[in-house]
Amino acid sequence: MAKKQACRVRNCCQICAARYLVNQSGRRFVADCSPQQTCAVQTVMPQFSGLHSSKHPPPQRSSKLGDTYWKLAIASMSNIPSPDFTPRLIVRRLSVDLSTPMRRHWNGGDAFLTAFYNALSFSFPEGEQFFIESVRNGVQHLDAETCNPAFHDTIQGFIGQEATHRHLHAQYNIQLEAQGLKNHWGPRIVKRKTRARRLFLKSTKRHLHELAITAGYEHFTSVLGDLTLQSIGKESDWLQDADTSQQTLWRWHAAEECEHKAVAFDLYQQLGGNHTWRLLWVVYLSIHFTTDVIRQTINNLWHDRTLHKPSTWWSAVKFCFGRYGWLWRCTPRFAAYFRKDFHPNQMGSEKHMREWQETNKSQWQAVGSPTAQET
Ligand SMILES: [Fe+2]
Ligand SMILES: [Fe+2]
Repeated sequence: MAKKQACRVRNCCQICAARYLVNQSGRRFVADCSPQQTCAVQTVMPQFSGLHSSKHPPPQRSSKLGDTYWKLAIASMSNIPSPDFTPRLIVRRLSVDLSTPMRRHWNGGDAFLTAFYNALSFSFPEGEQFFIESVRNGVQHLDAETCNPAFHDTIQGFIGQEATHRHLHAQYNIQLEAQGLKNHWGPRIVKRKTRARRLFLKSTKRHLHELAITAGYEHFTSVLGDLTLQSIGKESDWLQDADTSQQTLWRWHAAEECEHKAVAFDLYQQLGGNHTWRLLWVVYLSIHFTTDVIRQTINNLWHDRTLHKPSTWWSAVKFCFGRYGWLWRCTPRFAAYFRKDFHPNQMGSEKHMREWQETNKSQWQAVGSPTAQET
């Protein structure tokens, strides 16, 4: 029997290292391996190539609780593209004027919902700069011979989209600071980044650690983005009463987060990033993200002098634990990331993203020519 070697193709089976595809019903099919790859399935069991294999079992699930979460999460899946789909990422310039002051409680007059979104905005310029840097560093380690050339274009599209997000949110944050709010989250990101880079200075795997962090955050933003878009016109929409320009800004960002959700994850997989570190980093950043968003929201409310109002706390309780609360809607989707065979394309729906981009064409303009092509 041929010796099993690590396969560096995306979405490899954890058991036999075969590359697989996922169809709409979530079943997995063994796909061809390229001649450059040494894959146990192709060398030992060539008859499986291109066929669904009953000898290709799914990874063991860790717990009943995990199963329940996964079932809830899978119920929300639709239009699952192949993991090998290389999206054509367009960088869009948004026609929203952020140079003029915004309403203090722009989200339907709700102090809590406004403070929460403002907190997220404070994190974007520094956070998204980190995503760009980690992907740029990672791509330098790609094997030019085995990498799909279209993937490089997708990465350029990712960088362009994130750079546009950080630029617009930096403008947005200037308006928030003019209202008297203070950004504590951004400087914390810079401090952590500097400390971590010092710690991993001599590590040859630094690019993988950074990519694992980016992939984890990209999962969070795509889950929030998908929920934002699929709720449009429904009671569950957290932005339903927001001012028009804010609605446009947040939904545009949401759509692009859904669009490029798999880029950092795919790069991490292609570079041989492992499941254990991916999970360790997502646990670490979940703790940071939760505490940071709470601290910044409370700080925003404090400066806004609405922290002690009962209506603020009532809105917070509804947002977290209500019928359409964050806890019920986000937790199963976040938890799906812990599965060994997880891929971002298994989550969410491309339909809502495309629908928003199509119906709001007048709100944006594509920058330059198309950056990538479908393979
Ligand atoms: Fe972004
Ligand atoms: Fe992103």
